[in-house]
Amino acid sequence: MPVDRVTPGTLIAMKKAGETIVALTAYDWPTAEVEQAAGVDMILVGDSMGTVLFGHETTLKMTMDLMVAHCAAVAQAAGRALLVGDMPFLSTTVSVEEAVRNAGRFVAEGDMHAVKVEGGEAMAPAIEAIVRAGVPVLGHVGYTPQQTLKFGRSVVRGRGEEAAGAILRDAEAVERAGAFGIVLECIPLGLAKRVTDRVAVPTIGIGSGPHCDGQILVVHDMLGLFDKKQMKFVKRYADLKAQMRAAVEQYAAEVRSGAYPDETHAFHDKT
Ligand code: KIV
Repeated sequence: MPVDRVTPGTLIAMKKAGETIVALTAYDWPTAEVEQAAGVDMILVGDSMGTVLFGHETTLKMTMDLMVAHCAAVAQAAGRALLVGDMPFLSTTVSVEEAVRNAGRFVAEGDMHAVKVEGGEAMAPAIEAIVRAGVPVLGHVGYTPQQTLKFGRSVVRGRGEEAAGAILRDAEAVERAGAFGIVLECIPLGLAKRVTDRVAVPTIGIGSGPHCDGQILVVHDMLGLFDKKQMKFVKRYADLKAQMRAAVEQYAAEVRSGAYPDETHAFHDKT
């Protein structure tokens, strides 16, 4: 293990020191290599791969086997980031025993350093048991995509005092259960600040404004690789889909015209 590898304790210390945590998703080795080289603190192998990598409407088709396989690929990239595997739909909710066993697979087979569990108060027993088994847990409250069939697709959660109170209770329950940090997805920025001030563990925001202890984005969104829908909170730092298309069009044109391959791209007999 690299001596300066980021641990859950590092992230908690960063919150205390007022240092902002940088996190991104990754689903494969080359992307993880780029993120590690760029100095990202935490890489999440998110079940968002269901939408941005597999093209599904929701994240619900992601299975333990798929998640673990992608985790093992991400873990091949060398670097200091904390690696977190996202526990998919039904992997945490059938029973606490099954949740612990599934969390263990992320570590033993996927080479992850921690897992993320979606859900608030209701998930506290599972989080407690997973942490007790030796697997650090990142919580996730606010908009939780695995509940999309129950709540529908409107994403902002915690608007109004009653809903805000429920989010605060969720965050406190997740912290009490032993989570080392909490993803806050799509809650109003004022509420994100209240949660961040209330809990001792770092909050990692996505669509929750600037007052969180860190930020995470889905890498395909910020690189412009996924354009099926564009959420308000996403900032695009590149337009890789357009660049990929231009490259593929140029390749097709050169193959058709005979410009590629030329003799420099070929093997020659030894003379
Ligand atoms: O699956 C995922 O990528 C996530 C992030 C959006 C936090 O849960």
